[in-house]
Amino acid sequence: MGKIRKIGVLTSGGDSPGMNAAIRAVTRTAIYNGLEVIGIRHGYLGMINANFKPLKAHSVSDIIQRGGTILKTARCEEFRTIEGRKTAHENLVAAEIDGVVAIGGDGTFKGAAIFNEEYDIPFVGVPGTIDNDIYGTDYTIGYDTALNTVVEAVDKIRDTASAHNRMFFVEVMGAEAGHIALYSGIASGAEAIIMPEIRGEARDLRKMIENGNKRKKSSNIIIVAEGDEEGGAIAIAEKLKPELTDYDIRVSILGHLQRGGSPSALDRVNASRLGNAAVEALLDGQKSVMVGLQNNEIVLVPFRKAVKLHKGLNQSLVDIIDVLNV
Ligand code: F6P
Repeated sequence: MGKIRKIGVLTSGGDSPGMNAAIRAVTRTAIYNGLEVIGIRHGYLGMINANFKPLKAHSVSDIIQRGGTILKTARCEEFRTIEGRKTAHENLVAAEIDGVVAIGGDGTFKGAAIFNEEYDIPFVGVPGTIDNDIYGTDYTIGYDTALNTVVEAVDKIRDTASAHNRMFFVEVMGAEAGHIALYSGIASGAEAIIMPEIRGEARDLRKMIENGNKRKKSSNIIIVAEGDEEGGAIAIAEKLKPELTDYDIRVSILGHLQRGGSPSALDRVNASRLGNAAVEALLDGQKSVMVGLQNNEIVLVPFRKAVKLHKGLNQSLVDIIDVLNV
Protein backbone atom coordinates (compact mmCIF):
# COMPACT_ATOMS: atom_id res chain seq x y z
CA MET A 1 0.00 0.00 0.00
CA GLY A 2 1.34 3.41 -0.97
CA LYS A 3 0.90 6.78 0.66
CA ILE A 4 -2.69 7.95 1.08
CA ARG A 5 -3.35 11.19 -0.83
CA LYS A 6 -6.97 10.86 -1.85
CA ILE A 7 -9.77 8.95 -0.15
CA GLY A 8 -13.29 7.97 -1.10
CA VAL A 9 -16.23 7.90 1.27
CA LEU A 10 -19.52 6.08 0.77
CA THR A 11 -22.66 5.05 2.63
CA SER A 12 -24.17 1.67 1.91
CA GLY A 13 -27.09 -0.53 3.02
CA GLY A 14 -29.97 0.86 5.09
CA ASP A 15 -29.48 4.53 5.92
CA SER A 16 -29.33 5.64 9.53
CA PRO A 17 -29.51 9.03 11.27
CA GLY A 18 -25.97 10.27 11.83
CA MET A 19 -24.53 9.02 8.54
CA ASN A 20 -24.25 12.64 7.41
CA ALA A 21 -22.38 13.54 10.57
CA ALA A 22 -19.96 10.70 9.79
CA ILE A 23 -19.49 11.88 6.17
CA ARG A 24 -18.74 15.34 7.52
CA ALA A 25 -16.20 14.01 10.02
CA VAL A 26 -14.47 11.88 7.37
CA THR A 27 -14.33 14.77 4.91
CA ARG A 28 -13.08 17.36 7.38
CA THR A 29 -10.52 15.03 9.01
CA ALA A 30 -9.15 14.13 5.59
CA ILE A 31 -8.91 17.78 4.51
CA TYR A 32 -7.31 18.71 7.85
CA ASN A 33 -4.65 16.10 7.07
CA GLY A 34 -4.05 17.44 3.57
CA LEU A 35 -5.97 14.72 1.71
CA GLU A 36 -8.41 15.05 -1.16
CA VAL A 37 -11.87 13.58 -0.66
CA ILE A 38 -14.19 11.99 -3.19
CA GLY A 39 -17.82 11.27 -2.32
CA ILE A 40 -18.95 7.98 -3.86
CA ARG A 41 -22.69 8.15 -4.50
CA HIS A 42 -25.16 5.28 -3.99
CA GLY A 43 -22.74 3.03 -2.10
CA TYR A 44 -20.92 0.28 -3.96
CA LEU A 45 -23.05 0.93 -7.03
CA GLY A 46 -21.33 4.31 -7.30
CA MET A 47 -17.96 2.57 -7.31
CA ILE A 48 -19.12 0.38 -10.19
CA ASN A 49 -20.64 3.33 -12.12
CA ALA A 50 -17.84 5.76 -11.22
CA ASN A 51 -20.42 8.05 -9.66
CA PHE A 52 -17.88 10.25 -7.89
CA LYS A 53 -17.94 13.87 -6.73
CA PRO A 54 -15.19 15.79 -4.96
CA LEU A 55 -16.05 16.91 -1.44
CA LYS A 56 -14.65 20.10 0.08
CA ALA A 57 -14.98 21.30 3.68
CA HIS A 58 -17.99 23.43 2.68
CA SER A 59 -19.67 20.51 0.84
CA VAL A 60 -20.46 19.00 4.24
CA SER A 61 -21.68 22.20 5.90
CA ASP A 62 -25.16 22.18 7.41
CA ILE A 63 -25.58 18.39 7.30
CA ILE A 64 -24.64 17.27 10.84
CA GLN A 65 -28.28 17.65 11.92
CA ARG A 66 -29.85 15.88 8.93
CA GLY A 67 -31.13 12.33 8.68
CA GLY A 68 -30.62 10.21 5.55
CA THR A 69 -27.34 10.48 3.65
CA ILE A 70 -26.24 13.19 1.22
CA LEU A 71 -24.25 10.52 -0.65
CA LYS A 72 -27.34 8.31 -1.08
CA THR A 73 -27.19 4.62 -0.38
CA ALA A 74 -28.01 1.31 -2.02
CA ARG A 75 -27.89 -2.43 -1.54
CA CYS A 76 -25.75 -3.46 -4.51
CA GLU A 77 -26.04 -7.01 -5.87
CA GLU A 78 -23.41 -6.37 -8.55
CA PHE A 79 -20.70 -5.76 -5.96
CA ARG A 80 -21.21 -9.36 -4.84
CA THR A 81 -19.81 -10.52 -8.19
CA ILE A 82 -16.13 -10.78 -9.16
CA GLU A 83 -16.79 -8.69 -12.29
CA GLY A 84 -18.57 -5.97 -10.28
CA ARG A 85 -15.68 -5.66 -7.85
CA LYS A 86 -13.17 -5.66 -10.74
CA THR A 87 -14.96 -2.71 -12.37
CA ALA A 88 -15.15 -0.95 -9.00
CA HIS A 89 -11.41 -1.42 -8.54
CA GLU A 90 -10.64 -0.12 -12.03
CA ASN A 91 -12.73 2.98 -11.34
CA LEU A 92 -11.03 3.64 -8.01
CA VAL A 93 -7.60 3.31 -9.67
CA ALA A 94 -8.64 5.63 -12.52
CA ALA A 95 -9.82 8.24 -9.99
CA GLU A 96 -6.56 7.80 -8.03
CA ILE A 97 -8.43 6.91 -4.85
CA ASP A 98 -5.95 5.39 -2.38
CA GLY A 99 -8.35 4.34 0.39
CA VAL A 100 -12.08 4.15 1.12
CA VAL A 101 -14.18 4.77 4.22
CA ALA A 102 -17.34 2.66 3.99
CA ILE A 103 -20.16 3.66 6.34
CA GLY A 104 -22.79 0.95 6.78
CA GLY A 105 -23.68 -2.34 8.41
CA ASP A 106 -23.00 -6.02 8.10
CA GLY A 107 -23.52 -6.26 4.31
CA THR A 108 -21.28 -3.25 3.73
CA PHE A 109 -18.43 -4.79 5.71
CA LYS A 110 -18.85 -8.20 4.04
CA GLY A 111 -18.40 -6.50 0.65
CA ALA A 112 -15.43 -4.47 1.89
CA ALA A 113 -13.76 -7.55 3.41
CA ILE A 114 -13.98 -9.50 0.14
CA PHE A 115 -12.75 -6.50 -1.85
CA ASN A 116 -9.74 -6.19 0.45
CA GLU A 117 -8.90 -9.89 0.00
CA GLU A 118 -8.77 -9.26 -3.75
CA TYR A 119 -7.34 -5.74 -4.04
CA ASP A 120 -4.84 -3.53 -2.27
CA ILE A 121 -6.86 -0.32 -1.92
CA PRO A 122 -7.56 -0.27 1.84
CA PHE A 123 -11.09 -0.07 3.20
CA VAL A 124 -11.96 1.07 6.71
CA GLY A 125 -15.54 0.69 7.97
CA VAL A 126 -17.71 2.92 10.15
CA PRO A 127 -20.68 1.10 11.73
CA GLY A 128 -23.89 2.80 10.64
CA THR A 129 -27.20 0.99 11.09
CA ILE A 130 -30.14 1.54 13.39
CA ASP A 131 -30.08 -2.15 14.31
CA ASN A 132 -26.94 -1.95 16.53
CA ASP A 133 -26.19 -5.53 15.50
CA ILE A 134 -22.49 -5.19 14.65
CA TYR A 135 -20.06 -7.19 16.73
CA GLY A 136 -17.16 -5.17 18.16
CA THR A 137 -18.89 -1.87 18.83
CA ASP A 138 -21.19 -0.89 21.67
CA TYR A 139 -23.02 1.55 19.42
CA THR A 140 -23.74 1.83 15.74
CA ILE A 141 -24.57 5.23 14.30
CA GLY A 142 -28.33 5.75 14.20
CA TYR A 143 -29.29 3.33 16.95
CA ASP A 144 -29.76 5.96 19.64
CA THR A 145 -31.90 8.15 17.39
CA ALA A 146 -34.04 5.19 16.30
CA LEU A 147 -34.53 4.18 19.93
CA ASN A 148 -35.72 7.65 20.83
CA THR A 149 -38.07 7.65 17.84
CA VAL A 150 -39.54 4.31 18.90
CA VAL A 151 -39.96 5.36 22.52
CA GLU A 152 -41.72 8.57 21.52
CA ALA A 153 -44.09 6.56 19.29
CA VAL A 154 -44.77 3.92 21.93
CA ASP A 155 -45.53 6.60 24.54
CA LYS A 156 -48.19 7.92 22.17
CA ILE A 157 -49.57 4.44 21.57
CA ARG A 158 -49.70 3.98 25.35
CA ASP A 159 -51.98 7.01 25.66
CA THR A 160 -54.58 5.63 23.28
CA ALA A 161 -54.14 2.06 24.56
CA SER A 162 -54.88 3.21 28.07
CA ALA A 163 -57.84 5.32 27.00
CA HIS A 164 -59.48 2.25 25.45
CA ASN A 165 -58.10 -0.45 27.79
CA ARG A 166 -56.42 -2.08 24.81
CA MET A 167 -53.51 -4.37 24.13
CA PHE A 168 -51.08 -3.28 21.39
CA PHE A 169 -48.54 -5.37 19.56
CA VAL A 170 -45.98 -2.82 18.33
CA GLU A 171 -43.53 -4.01 15.69
CA VAL A 172 -40.10 -2.41 15.59
CA MET A 173 -37.21 -2.93 13.16
CA GLY A 174 -34.57 -5.57 13.66
CA ALA A 175 -34.65 -8.16 10.89
CA GLU A 176 -32.14 -10.32 12.71
CA ALA A 177 -31.60 -8.61 16.02
CA GLY A 178 -33.63 -7.57 19.04
CA HIS A 179 -31.53 -4.66 20.29
CA ILE A 180 -34.05 -1.99 19.30
CA ALA A 181 -36.90 -4.07 20.74
CA LEU A 182 -35.08 -4.70 24.03
CA TYR A 183 -33.95 -1.15 24.73
CA SER A 184 -37.14 0.53 23.53
CA GLY A 185 -39.21 -2.03 25.42
CA ILE A 186 -37.40 -1.30 28.67
CA ALA A 187 -37.53 2.45 28.05
CA SER A 188 -41.26 2.47 27.33
CA GLY A 189 -42.24 0.11 30.14
CA ALA A 190 -43.50 -2.58 27.76
CA GLU A 191 -45.33 -5.51 29.36
CA ALA A 192 -43.48 -7.98 27.12
CA ILE A 193 -40.69 -7.91 24.53
CA ILE A 194 -40.40 -10.45 21.75
CA MET A 195 -36.96 -10.81 20.14
CA PRO A 196 -35.35 -13.18 17.64
CA GLU A 197 -32.54 -14.07 20.06
CA ILE A 198 -34.93 -15.44 22.68
CA ARG A 199 -36.99 -18.27 21.41
CA GLY A 200 -40.44 -19.30 22.51
CA GLU A 201 -41.27 -16.20 24.57
CA ALA A 202 -44.67 -16.10 22.98
CA ARG A 203 -45.53 -19.14 25.07
CA ASP A 204 -44.97 -17.19 28.29
CA LEU A 205 -46.84 -14.21 27.05
CA ARG A 206 -50.13 -15.19 28.58
CA LYS A 207 -48.46 -15.48 31.99
CA MET A 208 -46.86 -12.06 31.64
CA ILE A 209 -50.15 -10.51 30.65
CA GLU A 210 -52.01 -12.23 33.48
CA ASN A 211 -49.51 -10.79 35.93
CA GLY A 212 -50.35 -7.34 34.65
CA ASN A 213 -54.05 -8.11 34.71
CA LYS A 214 -53.93 -8.95 38.40
CA ARG A 215 -53.03 -5.31 38.88
CA LYS A 216 -55.87 -4.33 36.57
CA LYS A 217 -53.61 -2.73 33.97
CA SER A 218 -55.46 -0.44 31.65
CA SER A 219 -53.08 -1.06 28.77
CA ASN A 220 -50.63 -3.68 27.56
CA ILE A 221 -47.80 -3.00 25.15
CA ILE A 222 -45.99 -5.93 23.59
CA ILE A 223 -42.93 -4.90 21.59
CA VAL A 224 -42.12 -7.31 18.75
CA ALA A 225 -38.86 -7.26 16.76
CA GLU A 226 -39.78 -7.75 13.10
CA GLY A 227 -37.39 -10.69 12.74
CA ASP A 228 -38.78 -12.84 15.53
CA GLU A 229 -39.13 -16.55 14.74
CA GLU A 230 -42.90 -16.37 15.28
CA GLY A 231 -43.22 -13.70 12.58
CA GLY A 232 -43.89 -10.00 12.97
CA ALA A 233 -46.49 -8.32 15.15
CA ILE A 234 -49.44 -9.21 12.89
CA ALA A 235 -48.58 -12.93 12.87
CA ILE A 236 -48.03 -13.06 16.62
CA ALA A 237 -51.20 -11.13 17.40
CA GLU A 238 -53.21 -13.47 15.13
CA LYS A 239 -51.68 -16.52 16.76
CA LEU A 240 -52.44 -15.33 20.28
CA LYS A 241 -55.90 -13.90 19.65
CA PRO A 242 -57.75 -17.15 20.39
CA GLU A 243 -56.09 -17.28 23.83
CA LEU A 244 -56.59 -13.60 24.57
CA THR A 245 -60.30 -13.24 24.01
CA ASP A 246 -60.65 -10.88 27.01
CA TYR A 247 -58.46 -8.30 25.32
CA ASP A 248 -59.21 -5.71 22.69
CA ILE A 249 -56.13 -6.14 20.49
CA ARG A 250 -54.54 -3.75 17.99
CA VAL A 251 -51.32 -3.94 15.99
CA SER A 252 -49.04 -1.05 15.07
CA ILE A 253 -46.05 -1.39 12.75
CA LEU A 254 -43.63 1.49 13.12
CA GLY A 255 -41.72 0.71 9.90
CA HIS A 256 -39.32 3.06 8.15
CA LEU A 257 -40.07 6.11 10.24
CA GLN A 258 -37.53 4.51 12.61
CA ARG A 259 -34.79 5.17 10.05
CA GLY A 260 -35.43 8.87 9.57
CA GLY A 261 -35.18 12.08 11.54
CA SER A 262 -32.55 14.38 12.90
CA PRO A 263 -29.80 12.41 14.69
CA SER A 264 -29.59 12.58 18.48
CA ALA A 265 -26.67 14.37 20.13
CA LEU A 266 -25.13 10.98 21.00
CA ASP A 267 -25.34 9.77 17.39
CA ARG A 268 -23.77 13.01 16.14
CA VAL A 269 -20.91 12.73 18.62
CA ASN A 270 -20.35 9.02 17.93
CA ALA A 271 -20.46 9.64 14.18
CA SER A 272 -17.96 12.49 14.51
CA ARG A 273 -15.56 10.35 16.55
CA LEU A 274 -15.89 7.28 14.34
CA GLY A 275 -15.57 9.22 11.08
CA ASN A 276 -12.46 10.93 12.41
CA ALA A 277 -10.99 7.61 13.61
CA ALA A 278 -11.62 5.95 10.25
CA VAL A 279 -9.46 8.49 8.41
CA GLU A 280 -6.76 8.25 11.10
CA ALA A 281 -6.82 4.47 10.64
CA LEU A 282 -6.30 4.80 6.87
CA LEU A 283 -3.41 7.21 7.49
CA ASP A 284 -1.93 4.68 9.93
CA GLY A 285 -1.90 2.05 7.17
CA GLN A 286 -4.89 0.06 8.43
CA LYS A 287 -6.91 -2.07 6.04
CA SER A 288 -9.98 -4.29 6.29
CA VAL A 289 -10.97 -3.04 9.74
CA MET A 290 -13.97 -1.35 11.28
CA VAL A 291 -13.63 1.44 13.81
CA GLY A 292 -15.86 0.85 16.81
CA LEU A 293 -16.63 2.16 20.27
CA GLN A 294 -16.04 -0.08 23.27
CA ASN A 295 -16.49 1.40 26.74
CA ASN A 296 -16.42 4.83 25.14
CA GLU A 297 -12.98 4.23 23.60
CA ILE A 298 -12.21 3.92 19.89
CA VAL A 299 -11.17 0.41 18.86
CA LEU A 300 -10.24 -1.27 15.58
CA VAL A 301 -12.02 -4.52 14.77
CA PRO A 302 -11.08 -6.65 11.74
CA PHE A 303 -13.96 -6.92 9.24
CA ARG A 304 -13.62 -10.68 9.41
CA LYS A 305 -14.57 -10.59 13.12
CA ALA A 306 -17.21 -7.86 12.81
CA VAL A 307 -19.13 -9.84 10.20
CA LYS A 308 -18.66 -13.33 11.58
CA LEU A 309 -19.23 -12.94 15.29
CA HIS A 310 -22.70 -12.36 16.68
CA LYS A 311 -23.37 -9.49 19.02
CA GLY A 312 -25.58 -10.85 21.77
CA LEU A 313 -28.28 -8.99 23.61
CA ASN A 314 -27.44 -7.18 26.83
CA GLN A 315 -28.31 -10.02 29.21
CA SER A 316 -28.59 -7.78 32.26
CA LEU A 317 -31.46 -6.00 30.51
CA VAL A 318 -33.11 -9.25 29.43
CA ASP A 319 -32.99 -10.37 33.07
CA ILE A 320 -34.96 -7.40 34.35
CA ILE A 321 -37.84 -7.49 31.85
CA ASP A 322 -39.94 -9.74 34.10
CA VAL A 323 -38.74 -8.09 37.30
CA LEU A 324 -39.97 -4.69 36.11
CA ASN A 325 -43.32 -6.17 35.19
CA VAL A 326 -44.05 -7.88 38.47
O1 F6P B 1 -31.41 -0.69 8.56
C1 F6P B 1 -31.62 -2.00 9.01
C2 F6P B 1 -33.01 -2.38 8.75
O2 F6P B 1 -33.71 -1.32 9.28
C3 F6P B 1 -33.60 -3.67 9.27
O3 F6P B 1 -33.95 -3.68 10.61
C4 F6P B 1 -34.78 -3.84 8.35
O4 F6P B 1 -35.26 -5.11 8.26
C5 F6P B 1 -34.21 -3.41 7.06
O5 F6P B 1 -33.25 -2.42 7.36
C6 F6P B 1 -35.21 -2.94 6.05
O6 F6P B 1 -34.56 -2.18 5.09
P1 F6P B 1 -35.02 -1.95 3.60
O7 F6P B 1 -36.41 -1.54 3.63
O8 F6P B 1 -34.10 -0.88 3.14
O9 F6P B 1 -34.81 -3.24 2.88
